[in-house]
Amino acid sequence: RRGRRRPVRVYMDGCFDMMHYGHCNALRQAHALGDELIVGVVSDDEITANKGPPVTPLHERLIMVRAVKWVHDVIPDAPYAITEDFMNKLFNEYNIDYIIHGDDPCLLPDGTDAYALAKKVGRYKQIKRTEGVSTTDIVGRMLLCVRERSASDSHNHSSLQRQFSHGHGQKIDDSGSGSGTRISHFLPTSRRIVHSTRGPHRPIMNLHERSLSVLACRYVDEVIIGAPWDVSKDMITTFNISLVVHGTIAENMDFMKDDLNPYAVPRAMGIYRRLESPLDITTSTIIRRIVANHEAY
Ligand code: CTP
Repeated sequence: RRGRRRPVRVYMDGCFDMMHYGHCNALRQAHALGDELIVGVVSDDEITANKGPPVTPLHERLIMVRAVKWVHDVIPDAPYAITEDFMNKLFNEYNIDYIIHGDDPCLLPDGTDAYALAKKVGRYKQIKRTEGVSTTDIVGRMLLCVRERSASDSHNHSSLQRQFSHGHGQKIDDSGSGSGTRISHFLPTSRRIVHSTRGPHRPIMNLHERSLSVLACRYVDEVIIGAPWDVSKDMITTFNISLVVHGTIAENMDFMKDDLNPYAVPRAMGIYRRLESPLDITTSTIIRRIVANHEAY
């Protein structure tokens, strides 16, 4: 007789600060080790105590983690280190079978392994960390934009770098412009478009990286990699599009006043709608927060 098997529940915790495709790939691999992935999102206070203040506060980090298609549920305000108490709570209250983390060493300030307890009881599994991306690296890329704006203030930049190198235990790769844009073959067209519209050192993420990020989103069914800036009639027909939407918040809303705006075609067709943006953050706001964090500490 075949009984219905209980779903295997796996737990992954983390800060998920300025969520990137490395985090998404970790969640994808964790989900593949079970049936239901429960994610512990570490509290702002615990992050501040262990590696310096997060750029994105808990309520924003929760929205981003919940939007990832491999996440079944979240536990807000998770502790940075898994204590015996919390581990028992995971096993007994949340029915967790395995605790999962990337294959990078995760040490507490006192030098001990943050997952030692779970390993000891044989309930630990590991996934492969994604190379070439980290919150520290993204901060470095964003600082290039700031430096561009105040080229004379080079002292300020290097001390900002030191703070983040220290805070995240890694060295920022600052070797020339477009530090994260080496590996993409799609690069030429998309980078030129964003670069000319948004300014130097934009986009922060190359087309590969941005495509992976939206693909991880549970609301996304398909991605047109390298879409044109203007939504054309041809595209609407080819992909059988019945509605084109844009939020109320964006880096620059000036273009919306213009008759030649990128949504002119769907607007004229009566298939364009603006949706209220749930948060008011943009890439520029994030950059301002990083700079403000620096000035406060
Ligand atoms: N992770 C990963 N690949 C990356 C970055 C993170 O697989 N490039 C994994 C971590 O190993 C962890 C999970 O994502 O299991 C959540 O990580 P978090 O605590 O947010 O990450 P950090 O290791 O501090 O990553 P970052 O420096 O990017 O913030």
